Amino acid sequence: MKNHWDMIVPCTLIIGLLAFSQAANPCCSNPCQNRGVCMTTGFDRYECDCTRTGFYGENCTTPEFLSWLKLTLKPTPNTVHYILTHFKGVWNIINSIPFFRDSIMRYVLTSRSHLIDSPPTYNSQYGYKNWEAYSNLSFYTRALPPVALDCPTPMGVKGKKELPDSAVVVEKFLLRKKFIPDPQGTNMMFTFFAQHFTHQFFKTDHHKGPAFTKALGHGVDLNHVYGETLDRQLKLRLRTDGKLKYQMIDGEMYPPTVKDTQAEMMYPPHVPEHLQFSVGNEVFGLVPGLMMYATIWLREHNRVCDILKQVHPEWNDEQLFQTTRLILIGETIKIVVEDYVQQLSGYYFKLKFDPELLFNQQFQYQNRIAAEFNTLYHWHPLLPDSFQIHDQEYTFQQFLYNNSIMVEHGLSHMVKSFSKQIAGRVAGGKNVPFAVQKVAKASIDQSRQMRYQSLNEYRKRFLLKPFKSFEELTGKSYSF
Ligand code: HEM
Ligand SMILES: *[C@@H]1O[C@H](CO)[C@@H](O)[C@H](O)[C@H]1NC(C)=O
Ligand SMILES: *[C@@H]1O[C@H](CO)[C@@H](O)[C@H](O)[C@H]1NC(C)=O
Ligand SMILES: *[C@@H]1O[C@H](CO)[C@@H](O)[C@H](O)[C@H]1NC(C)=O
Repeated sequence: MKNHWDMIVPCTLIIGLLAFSQAANPCCSNPCQNRGVCMTTGFDRYECDCTRTGFYGENCTTPEFLSWLKLTLKPTPNTVHYILTHFKGVWNIINSIPFFRDSIMRYVLTSRSHLIDSPPTYNSQYGYKNWEAYSNLSFYTRALPPVALDCPTPMGVKGKKELPDSAVVVEKFLLRKKFIPDPQGTNMMFTFFAQHFTHQFFKTDHHKGPAFTKALGHGVDLNHVYGETLDRQLKLRLRTDGKLKYQMIDGEMYPPTVKDTQAEMMYPPHVPEHLQFSVGNEVFGLVPGLMMYATIWLREHNRVCDILKQVHPEWNDEQLFQTTRLILIGETIKIVVEDYVQQLSGYYFKLKFDPELLFNQQFQYQNRIAAEFNTLYHWHPLLPDSFQIHDQEYTFQQFLYNNSIMVEHGLSHMVKSFSKQIAGRVAGGKNVPFAVQKVAKASIDQSRQMRYQSLNEYRKRFLLKPFKSFEELTGKSYSF
């Protein structure tokens, strides 16, 4: 009897596996092109839904007349980028004529937003549209659905069945050998702005897994200044004149301590109580660069409160607070568009923040943060090998969780120094500092866990030409 079962179990397994590999989910090969949606019909057949793609045919590959015309006439994203980053003299003229500047900015905003599904569709648990994926805000959304679990390889049908050890990938392709400076002259002020700004919407809930976020606002709500919950917000507020709690050190305003607010933060036990500053995002004690921006926004909030109160002495604490928060959200978006994205883009076209540009347009104001957006934003190559402040040099070990650096130097020395120190180059590989190599590895592991599709599928999704070879991705000079 025992022998009999010993045979049956492996036989069933083998037969099962054979049947399984024969009838592999046909959507695994991503047959539908031009954003057509693949749907299985039975175990071994599929259909592409080409609705509103502008294409038709079995795989949505044949353009309708209008799509054909657009394809023929429309410049490629590469060409558009080239034009925007060259011809400085022409752009200077365009920038000075409001009609042209507004029209182009309107085009930049609408063409980018048309690339995004809104309302959001998939998440890391659902590769098809459904109510749960739409309504459950704990998930990051997905620009592309996850590779189905029954696919032959992690990339669908291409690539190896077993991916290489992520630690080896980090070591070979990502780890910095020698600091490579950013070619656009990006500085450390930008670097910490990036980290500070994005950590209001990239707040992975690691207890639930990489597919989940704690930032339920999915956008620029300044929860990193005011706290994610009302409970935390109330702890951080002074409850007078709309202001946030603060302390004065040597005549300058700094965040209050955890002891003062009871708004918990993540500090290792060795950090003394008087340096456990308390701000909206509980992880901002990690880096003095983050605490620097937290302090700047704290000062700005209380400054705006003072001005509002002068104009509206009749307003109570709540109205002063709420109005100031809206003003700071507006200031943030203005800085992000006109300084931060401007620097990032390298455009000679002068970007503009003006909500009215979209008032007569079709535009979706709702937003959902995507998991891929988070993965791409792991800009740790921006980080230098050491941090320079006012002729002092700090290693990562001295710098991390060390708020005394901010108090000792004061904000203006920090800002001056970080404005001078050049950041690392993000794109092109081999520039992740040794100190955060674990973060790069975690990012790869999480991407695999979330079953991301291949880079080329993402390129096609965003109308970029897929790479034909590894060399086309890296350039010929790449050596390892
Ligand atoms: C000294 C500076 C920094 C340190 C020590 C650091 C460290 C870390 C660590 C430990 C994580 C969590 C990794 C994980 O387990 O998933 C992380 C996540 C992340 N970091 Fe950094 N980082 C630094 C600077 C930056 C900068 C400058 C950026 C620029 C945008 C950045 C972007 C991110 C993003 C987007 C995440 C994912 C956040 C999330 O999903 O919650 N980091 N970093
Ligand atoms: C559609 O794609 C499938 C799978 O890649 C392929 O076998 C088939 O020939 C394609 N059909 C057309 C009409 O190109
Ligand atoms: C969202 O989905 C997760 C995972 O399925 C679940 O644990 C959580 O309770 C859901 N949240 C809501 C608000 O339904
Ligand atoms: C923190 O920074 C101070 C300078 O403000 C420095 O003296 C100290 O050694 C640093 N702490 C650690 C643990 O490196």
